[in-house]
Amino acid sequence: MDKLIVQGDADLKGSINISGSKNSSLPILAATLLTEEPCIVRNVPDVSDTNYLIQIMNALGGHVERSSGTVRTEAKGIQHEAPYDLVRKMRASICVMGPLLGRLGRAKVSLPGGCVIGDRPIDLHLKGFEALGAEITMDGGDINVEAPNGLTGAHINLRGKHGPTVLGTDNVMMAAVLAKGTTVIESAACEPEVYDLAEFLNLMGAKISGHGTRTITIEGVEKLHGVDHRVIPDRIEAATFMVAGIMASKEGITLKRVCREHLKVAEDMLVSAGHCVEFNEEGTQVFVKKGDAPKGCEIITSPYPGFPTDMQAQFTAMLALTPGISIIEDTIFPQRFMQCSELKRMGANIEVDGGRAVVHGVEKLSGAPVMASDLRASAALVLAGLTASGETEISRLYHIDRGYENIDEKLEQLGAVVKRVIE
Ligand code: EPZ
Repeated sequence: MDKLIVQGDADLKGSINISGSKNSSLPILAATLLTEEPCIVRNVPDVSDTNYLIQIMNALGGHVERSSGTVRTEAKGIQHEAPYDLVRKMRASICVMGPLLGRLGRAKVSLPGGCVIGDRPIDLHLKGFEALGAEITMDGGDINVEAPNGLTGAHINLRGKHGPTVLGTDNVMMAAVLAKGTTVIESAACEPEVYDLAEFLNLMGAKISGHGTRTITIEGVEKLHGVDHRVIPDRIEAATFMVAGIMASKEGITLKRVCREHLKVAEDMLVSAGHCVEFNEEGTQVFVKKGDAPKGCEIITSPYPGFPTDMQAQFTAMLALTPGISIIEDTIFPQRFMQCSELKRMGANIEVDGGRAVVHGVEKLSGAPVMASDLRASAALVLAGLTASGETEISRLYHIDRGYENIDEKLEQLGAVVKRVIE
């Protein structure tokens, strides 16, 4: 398993381009299964999550080819069973279920396991499929979803105990686009990636309205056609590097190919913590620089447009070095504090209790061998390593390679000294 050796006391300079959104690419690539016509999806980050999905789509008969950030699909003759050995590698593969059900009237996908950030149920996805007329059966760890009489539009509330579901909203939307009649999804997720998917489906000929709000309406159509679409920038990668620029740069850094609208809550939080965040006129570039008097803050994650759970670990790393006391509560994944035990190995002063971390800022962290546990926690460890004294060795790097495209090169482009050791 690869590890990354990060030289401490980094002083990042200059600028990098932010990649396309992983969490937009996954459902959009899956949505190309809804038509037999060729589709082109651009700005798809070359990360293991998108590559796993491409493998699954090829196994389904999707004829998917990637050339750098552009993916071409032609899902002429597809079959309904997603292979377990691929699905088990990435729980987000569940997002092929909606398009398979919409296109073929049936789907068979293995039940995704949980992961370190918490149990990852799909009860809301299945509730939506049943509301559309599908029958759900379990078969040796696989979920069978079948709609022998086709799918019929329905009024569905997708709210769970932790709020809306992003991939659940995506899946039900993708199943509903070819259903007979109209579907209304209440308590829909409003994330920009859900909006991007709805725009993609409308480009294919779907009739979706209300996306970006809690109520999405889908009028079923007969058929969808091929499209050419560029996915939105990755707001989580952008926020990760905004924190890097504040933690590990004297003069500040610039991030290009971002979308200010999607970074509002990160911008507000960083400004309230005393830092400098300046966007260009178009909102496509952002300059960040550590403030002279940083102060602790309170973060409570919530569904978009609230503070994203996917930014929580990175901000925890920053607050570990911010004078004063900060409180971080993750209401979406209460267990998502794996980064804290590793940050404490580096000298951070953090108490985790239930879904909450109380962070007492310290002057400096010390480099240490640490272990990545999930995608965003591993990013937090890289950020901490950049500012720590000495070297930090981050093992199980495959976690970070799931969602950060060319992170070594991007860090080096900013002047960081990092070395990937392939073991
Ligand atoms: C998406 O996961 C993202 N992944 C996650 O990002 C992100 O953390 C999450 O949304 C929340 O924003 C992708 O888009 C590929 P949810 P998803 O369904 O859709 C509960 C990353 O770091 N729930 O919105 O799987 C669930 O347990 C990844 O890029 C149910 O109870 O998350 C959680 O508490 C990690 N029943 C909450 O809802 C369900 O049927 C939100 O989960 C589904 C979810």
